[in-house]
Amino acid sequence: MQLIDGKALAQKVHTHVAEEVEKLKQEKNVVPGLAVILVGDDPASHAYVKMKAKACEKVGFYSITHNMPDTISQDEIIQIIEMMNNNPHIDGILVQLPLPKHIDTDKILEVIDPKKDVDGFHAYNVGRMVTNLDSFVPCTPLGVMEMFKAYDIDLEGKDVCVVGASNIVGKPMASLVLNANATVTVTHIYTKDLKAHTSRADIVIVGVGVPGLIKEDMVKEGAVVIDIGINRLEDGSLVGDVDFKNVSKKCSYITPVPGGVGPMTIAMLLSNTLKSAKQRA
Ligand code: GUN
Repeated sequence: MQLIDGKALAQKVHTHVAEEVEKLKQEKNVVPGLAVILVGDDPASHAYVKMKAKACEKVGFYSITHNMPDTISQDEIIQIIEMMNNNPHIDGILVQLPLPKHIDTDKILEVIDPKKDVDGFHAYNVGRMVTNLDSFVPCTPLGVMEMFKAYDIDLEGKDVCVVGASNIVGKPMASLVLNANATVTVTHIYTKDLKAHTSRADIVIVGVGVPGLIKEDMVKEGAVVIDIGINRLEDGSLVGDVDFKNVSKKCSYITPVPGGVGPMTIAMLLSNTLKSAKQRA
C-alpha cells in the first residue's frame, strides 16, 4: 500500500505558484488577487477561509475577505460580487459555501464573472468542463486529478466509482475521470446497493461526509481509494469517509485524512487564481 501524500504535493504546487507570481510581478507588473465572500458564522467555513487567506499571503497574492453577517440580503451579496467583478485587481472570486438558507446559492453563483470563477461553480465553466474545453475546474476534484498525475495512476479504461453526487465534488469528479477515459459509476444516497458498486471498482472516490462509510469489505484487493471526506469526531479528531485502518490494508494507493485531498483543494485554488491572473496579464 502506498500513501498518497497530499500535503507534500500541495507544497510543491505552492512553491511553483509562488515562483510564477514573482515572474508575473516582474514581467507584467500583475499581482494575482482573490476576493473571498464569507457569510455567517459557521466555524468550519471560517476555518477554511482563514486557511485560504493564509495560503494567498504565502504565495504573494493580494487577497480580501468580505465577512458578512447571516442577516445580509441576497441583493447585498450580489452588489459585492458585482463590485469584485468590476475590480481590476481581483482575478478570482470565491463565495464560501454553504450559504444561509434565505440565500439562493444558484443565483449567487451565476452572478460571478465566469472569467473570475476560480471555484469553477458557474454554469458556464461547468458546461465547458463537461465538454472537455478549457475552463476553471472545481478545486477539490482538480486536486484529485493532480494526485493521479503525480502518482502515475492511469485512468484510461479503469472502473471508477464516485460516491457522492454534489455539484462541488461528485459531479465534477465524475466528469473529469470520464474525460480521462474511465468508466464511471456515480452513487448517492438513493443508490440501492452501494457495496455492489464500490467493490467492483478499480478506483473509489468518496466525498459525502459520513465517517467510516467505506469499509474493508466494500473495496477490492489492490484498489485505489481517494477519501475526500473531512469529519470532526466528538473527541476532536479529524477522519475521512473511509475506515482507513482496515481499508488501507487492501489498497494499492490511499489518501490519508488529514494530509490527503484537503491540502490539494487550497493548492488548486491558488493554481486557478494564478491562471486567471495570467489571462488578465
Ligand atoms: N465549501 C466546501 N467546499 C468548498 C469549495 O471548494 N469552495 C467553496 N467556495 N465553498 C466550499
